[in-house]
Amino acid sequence: MIAGAPTADRGAWVTRWGFVLAAAGSAVGLGNIWRFPYIVGENGGGAFVLVYLLCIVFIGLPILVAELGIGRSLQRTPVGAFQQLAGRRSAWVGLGWLGVTVAFLLLSFYSVVAGWMLRYAYFAASGALGRGGVEQVQQTFGMVYGDAAGSVVGALVFIGMNVAMVGAGIQRGVERWSRILMPALFVLLVGLVGYAATLEGFGEAVGFLFRFDLGQLDRGGLLEALGHAFFTLSVGLGGMLTYGSYLPGKRGVVENAIAIVLLDTAVALLSCLLIFPLAFTFGLPPTESPGLIFVSLPMAFAQMPAGGLVGAVFFILLICAALTSGLSMLELASSYFIDERGWSRRQAVTRVGGVIAVLALPCALTGSTVVFGSGFEAFAGKSYFDLLVDLVTNWLTPLGGLGFALFVGWRLGPGVRRGQFDEGVPEAVYRGWLAVLRFLAPPAIVLIFLRGIGLV
Ligand code: PHE
Repeated sequence: MIAGAPTADRGAWVTRWGFVLAAAGSAVGLGNIWRFPYIVGENGGGAFVLVYLLCIVFIGLPILVAELGIGRSLQRTPVGAFQQLAGRRSAWVGLGWLGVTVAFLLLSFYSVVAGWMLRYAYFAASGALGRGGVEQVQQTFGMVYGDAAGSVVGALVFIGMNVAMVGAGIQRGVERWSRILMPALFVLLVGLVGYAATLEGFGEAVGFLFRFDLGQLDRGGLLEALGHAFFTLSVGLGGMLTYGSYLPGKRGVVENAIAIVLLDTAVALLSCLLIFPLAFTFGLPPTESPGLIFVSLPMAFAQMPAGGLVGAVFFILLICAALTSGLSMLELASSYFIDERGWSRRQAVTRVGGVIAVLALPCALTGSTVVFGSGFEAFAGKSYFDLLVDLVTNWLTPLGGLGFALFVGWRLGPGVRRGQFDEGVPEAVYRGWLAVLRFLAPPAIVLIFLRGIGLV
């Protein structure tokens, strides 16, 4: 028994698929269905997709394997794991703290967006979304975004769902719900893509996605692809480390990580095959930025037969995706208090959920002109909400990824590092993995930062 290791009954995954679905559930989220299609649109299509896939395979996947491997071998959550590996007072422990802190922030804005989706699902299902035609759709987003009370309630409902599910435990909560929500998501998505395939814009959409014209891609797009690779796989913050800590045994991390990456990528590409055909068929620009889902798509729903039903199914799909990601953020934040502070799961999850609800308030008020006059502008004309999303996705998540790559690649001793990797995997795979963590991932991530501050 290692000194300081947790003794509490931490829970464990019951089946391999349960784990893969939960981890894929963490990865598949708003990043895949909301963000990915519009950044593909912004960056001109195929070439960006190709670069994104390369980033996922050569940088995201190796860091995912590193996170899962640390969690599994130590059976601890990030703060405790870094304390055990680097020493209680080591600066590396800050990497664990970074993840726990960011989990609070991430869920605070994620739940506001998910709350908007809950309202959209309701509007679409009740037939209200398309009823007044295209003009009304445009007003709907302004109304939802500007409605402070509605945004608060939506976020609270979403946080409440997360608290209930994570509070029930790894096996009876996270695993069970992931085994329900993820297959539901796949069925809904495939069904909607099947419908999109019947639209005339489908061929054009496929061409847009898979025609690789590298001339189209600029450096900004390259680095955006890398940044998104971290966010979409949920790596860099220790969430995957936490999920790995409920895994038994010494094998299977590499295979499971590949399965997670394949599922995540499949959902990202299928989302494009759903959204672009709608955009092309109904004459909407595919580059329509973050409003794509809230404004452009509902316009398509308003014009198509049975659009209310298609819209409702679409927003329910988004909620399934957001929920399974939310579970992993809440688990990451709460598990610190369970493992290291000895709180009961219920206590930890409700208190953490309560703090997140408070943090969600300023995000929920972002569009409210009632509360903040002409808008809540915190700094340089950007709202608190925008600043937070930018800070978390473009800075803190890649920073965490850099930390993991450096820690596992350079700081861990060879014996410990090898012990965290799967047994029975060819030595060449191990060496390739190590080379990526040492020589490829760190400079690539540093490049993202240099671009962020305008130096490249
Ligand atoms: N991967 C999630 C998405 O694509 C976001 C996420 C990041 C979830 C980090 C958990 C931790 O939406």
